[in-house]
Amino acid sequence: MAISPNAPFTLLLSFFLVVSVSASAEHKTFIVRVQHDAKPSIFPTHKHWYESSLRSLSPTNTTTPVHDDKSLDSVETSRIIHTYETVFHGFSAKLSPLEVQKLETLSGIIAVIPEQESDFGSDLVIAVIDTGIWPERQSFNDRDLGPVPIKWKGECVAGKNFPSSSCNRKLIGARFFCNGYEATNGKMNETTEYRSPRDSDGHGTHTASISAGRYVFPASTLGYARGVAAGMAPKARLAAYKVCWNAGCYDSDILAAFDAAVADGADVVSLSVGGVVVPYYLDAIAIGAFGASAAGVFVSASAGNGGPGGLTVTNVAPWVTTVGAGTIDRDFPANVKLGNGKIIPGVSVYGGPGLTSGRLYPLIYAGSEGSDGYSSSLCLEGSLDPNLVKGKIILCDRGINSRAAKGEVVRKAGGIAMILANGVFDGEGLVADCHVLPATAVGASGGDEIRKYITVASKSRSPPTATIIFKGTRLRVRPAPVVASFSARGPNPESPEILKPDVIAPGLNILAAWPDRVGPSGIPSDKRRTEFNILSGTSMACPHVSGLAALLKAAHPEWSPAAIKSGIDDNCLYGHVHPQKAMDPGLIYDITSYDYVDFLCNSNYTTKNIQAITRKNADCSGARKAGHVGNLNYPSLSVVFQQYGKHKMSTHFIRTVTNVGDANSVYLVTVRPPSGTLVTVQPEKLVFRRVGQKLSFLTRVEVVAVKLSPGSSRMNSGSVVWSDGKHVVTSPVIVTMQQPL
Ligand SMILES: *[C@@H]1O[C@H](CO)[C@@H](O)[C@H](O)[C@H]1NC(C)=O
Ligand SMILES: *[C@@H]1O[C@H](CO)[C@@H](O)[C@H](O)[C@H]1NC(C)=O
Ligand SMILES: *[C@@H]1O[C@H](CO)[C@@H](O)[C@H](O)[C@H]1NC(C)=O
Repeated sequence: MAISPNAPFTLLLSFFLVVSVSASAEHKTFIVRVQHDAKPSIFPTHKHWYESSLRSLSPTNTTTPVHDDKSLDSVETSRIIHTYETVFHGFSAKLSPLEVQKLETLSGIIAVIPEQESDFGSDLVIAVIDTGIWPERQSFNDRDLGPVPIKWKGECVAGKNFPSSSCNRKLIGARFFCNGYEATNGKMNETTEYRSPRDSDGHGTHTASISAGRYVFPASTLGYARGVAAGMAPKARLAAYKVCWNAGCYDSDILAAFDAAVADGADVVSLSVGGVVVPYYLDAIAIGAFGASAAGVFVSASAGNGGPGGLTVTNVAPWVTTVGAGTIDRDFPANVKLGNGKIIPGVSVYGGPGLTSGRLYPLIYAGSEGSDGYSSSLCLEGSLDPNLVKGKIILCDRGINSRAAKGEVVRKAGGIAMILANGVFDGEGLVADCHVLPATAVGASGGDEIRKYITVASKSRSPPTATIIFKGTRLRVRPAPVVASFSARGPNPESPEILKPDVIAPGLNILAAWPDRVGPSGIPSDKRRTEFNILSGTSMACPHVSGLAALLKAAHPEWSPAAIKSGIDDNCLYGHVHPQKAMDPGLIYDITSYDYVDFLCNSNYTTKNIQAITRKNADCSGARKAGHVGNLNYPSLSVVFQQYGKHKMSTHFIRTVTNVGDANSVYLVTVRPPSGTLVTVQPEKLVFRRVGQKLSFLTRVEVVAVKLSPGSSRMNSGSVVWSDGKHVVTSPVIVTMQQPL
């Protein structure tokens, strides 16, 4: 099966700062936030209290002469770097990881926050399976990074234009896999692509820098999105596994890359690649990801760009974290002004010479007018008549072919600018592109309005005219984040009981590193070169989660991939990942490889099929007796009811949570039932006595009041929320009801 990197929507670097915690043995700077009024009265000042708290962490404190204030001051005050009393109550100090752990258990301590520029995450390795990498980019510099982690067994495989010296202490490994590709396509043409880890496309360089790019300043694309560029885990190490070539990415190569990444010692695999949904035992990504997950490696994958229609999500295996794309609070307005004065909102990252300010240009639609409207024009190669197009602004329809390539078609035909209108299917979601001529993208309704204006004006004495007004970068856009329109949607075609996508992360107009081989529009004739490019897609969302997973693993080295996933999934705001909350989730839903086998048994896979995934003999007798697919200890609850009205619509889910917060904690449940359903949770209170303790609960879901007409379906969402007052652990509950015709 040939699959492709998720449609090059195009690329970015976000200002996504993450609170991190040191996992290394050395002392690092931490900012400690205290509950101001919790100071015991025996301490005359807060500083005395802080010093005493620090002393109590020291393993030698019993032999320290605690009454001797002077000696204590000389030892301990030197560790307090600052005390804070106005905007913030607390202090900063250099602490070892053990001291941080102890400090967090003291009463009155609200949070222990690592200094931003710590080495946090530098022991972690993110494997990016993609189109390769452009190692010379600033985002991959290894300044101030320590030696390559000792556990690392990877290599820097040399090839075309990629000596083995291309790696450094940031990019610590690089490999390429093309046997599957060449077995199908014949030997690759080495003038159009590099037979090496070097990226001739841009996609892999972009995604790698999103997950773990270093801080780079100043960064921008042709002046847009100017600022500091940084990946999610700026100190984590990267390894590039190139599997995608000019004609696609092949299953056999992807599986080989998974194998190598796990053997090399990667902690996280980031995969912004997807195909169609097939049973897991036929799905190379699902099989590779299962092996990775069983070896303790976290896998995140892009959900796909087939939205906004339903059943479009890909990479749906429960052991993969499936990432959809959300918007960010920044956009690039480039509005169309029509000859009638009307303004149509649009977006663009066009950075060349603009149109003459104040001047209106002739405007035409490339489609032809029929009795019931226009036939569309996709502005495909050779479709435009230079005699009609020259010197004009051309309105083109979006379709599924490359947006930037349409701009090139218009430019070659002599057009002066392009307006790209969404179709009904694309709706109002806009993606900004780095076009090769002045161009902007408008929504479906804007496109309709422009076509109507053209029709009316063409028949009048003042022929249609327009201009595009480029407004640069706009910040603090609201509302944000929202799900990007192109982001693929559920339900999960393979396992309706497993909610997919799991989360959304920034995936619209993301600035990130870009190779020198390709211009920012991605089209061959584009001779512009930029260090960064702005792209959109779930491909850009996925590596945000990969980087976040590396940070979580650095903070909690003992957590399984499922625990990390649970930390991320159940600490979202409106489905959008929330790094700080994910660091300290309180409760997690853990899953072992045995649980996945039970899940596959209950999905009615044959033992032979299961063996294709797990590479072990499976015994399903116990699992089938024990329960159903929905009982996989997944951090969300999802059920699809067929034939509403004919049967009783009810189900139950058993879940087990592990306490990773305070030893003694009491969680109470709050249920927000999806509309038309009754949801009960038993017990309603979970009392934990130690860290690592597991407790189970049962959730029953019953449809009580939903009327559906034949052939229709409805999806209602709610949640089961556990809270101890400090942590809020939210499991979405999604009930889909389908009434057949
Ligand atoms: C350090 O002192 C505190 C109280 O001052 C005590 O609770 C703690 O057990 C001591 N730690 C060690 C390792 O002796
Ligand atoms: C390789 O690609 C180049 C550039 O497109 C082309 O000129 C050349 O003919 C191709 N070589 C082969 C063997 O196809
Ligand atoms: C598996 O097969 C059993 C028995 O035929 C059936 O009741 C159950 O619904 C099936 N489960 C799935 C997930 O298809």
